[in-house]
Amino acid sequence: MTNPKKSIHGEWSSHWAFILAATGAAVGLGNVWKFPYIAGENGGGAFVLVYLLCVIIIGIPLLMAEILIGRRGRQNPAYSLRDLALESGHKPFWQWFGLGIILAGFLILTYYSVIAGWSAAYVFIAATGTFHGASATRITQIFSQLVTNPYKLLFWHTVIMLITVGVIAKGIEKGIENAVRFMFPIMILLLLMLVIYAATTGYFASGLTFLFKPDFRKLTSTGVLSALGHAFFTLSLATGSIMMYGAYLPKKASITKASIYIAIADTSIALIAGIAIFPIVFANGLQPSAGPGLIFQTLPIAFGHLPYGSFFAVLFFVMLLFAALTSAISLLEPTVAWLIETFHTTRARAAIIAGIIIWILGFLTIFSFNILSHVKPFGMTLFDNLDYLTANIMLPIGGLFIAFFAAWLISKNNVRDELQLSDRWLFKSWHFIMRYITPIAIVVIFLNFVGIIKLNSH
Ligand code: PFF
Repeated sequence: MTNPKKSIHGEWSSHWAFILAATGAAVGLGNVWKFPYIAGENGGGAFVLVYLLCVIIIGIPLLMAEILIGRRGRQNPAYSLRDLALESGHKPFWQWFGLGIILAGFLILTYYSVIAGWSAAYVFIAATGTFHGASATRITQIFSQLVTNPYKLLFWHTVIMLITVGVIAKGIEKGIENAVRFMFPIMILLLLMLVIYAATTGYFASGLTFLFKPDFRKLTSTGVLSALGHAFFTLSLATGSIMMYGAYLPKKASITKASIYIAIADTSIALIAGIAIFPIVFANGLQPSAGPGLIFQTLPIAFGHLPYGSFFAVLFFVMLLFAALTSAISLLEPTVAWLIETFHTTRARAAIIAGIIIWILGFLTIFSFNILSHVKPFGMTLFDNLDYLTANIMLPIGGLFIAFFAAWLISKNNVRDELQLSDRWLFKSWHFIMRYITPIAIVVIFLNFVGIIKLNSH
């Protein structure tokens, strides 16, 4: 066995540092930007229910599996998987599957950075006071002026990639820990403030009904698959980022507690964002299915009507930007760790090379909203294709492999040693869920999607 006791890239200063960093990876655009718009596109309540079930049944056990694999392997996901396989007497080819996981995160960052750029642009738009008293039509216009301009998107995408590469090149430690520590409470307070505004629109009940009253007739098989994909995306699963952060986790820390904490923090932020947004959607005659622009077309309306609205809008988009950056950083780290461990290059060089390729691939997403908006392979824009391929296909397949790896392939004793669940019953339950429930749930959702079985009416 070659896996070292400590990662060559360092270690978190404490158990809490890890929880904060992993929460920073999990909480991001997925919660505030993506969750509301895909819940809106997929009819609300029933979608939200499936998503919540996926977080509990699939997400939390997989978070535990990823952290334990990372902590035991202490290297980038590819080498951690290889060494854990060797340790249990299996072949080293598992590293290829680890590379697939790293690739998923790499591809996600190509579009994640562009959307993070939207938040950055909105900080400046909000600062000019443009939202003050603006109508819903005007707000929609402001959004489309941004996304139809490839130069603006390119500028902000470049800024985000420069920051992400800069932070990664220096090594992640204190920076992320501190960023999350102050960002998280402010973000919750701002979202709660938006919820209070939403409650005054007269459409609060309609918003809540839309979000929490399941209407299964509105749920398609693609909707079920998207709910599964989103559970992965929002918890940063199967992209190597959680496994990578696990590699820097001190040995004594409790993996179970950390996983539950991360899942609760992540899910609460998404739900609060949804509760704030939908009443505003209905009160202004907007469509829940407006797509990726949803929060950028709704929240400015709320800020435009609040006292000191421009100030709060700036603060909100700054927080969203921070949340996006802590996620972007976690998306780049596995690739960079892999480059360093494979080519023995410096951290700075690895970060710059990976950053340049991601920056170039980001053009695909940028152009999807303007000059290439008519290009629609499989009936979707290039951005939608990338998002679909990564979130709905690569991540769940990655999750299936991780479950198989953790519960069937590596020896039970090694897993138990790493998880250190004091309670035998707890360990048995986790192992059972990983062995049977998680993989079966993922396979059933895929079979439903391709039409071999029928879970929903269409
Ligand atoms: N979980 C992040 C979000 O919800 O915005 C996105 C993300 C970060 C996905 C890191 C995957 C990942 F590895």
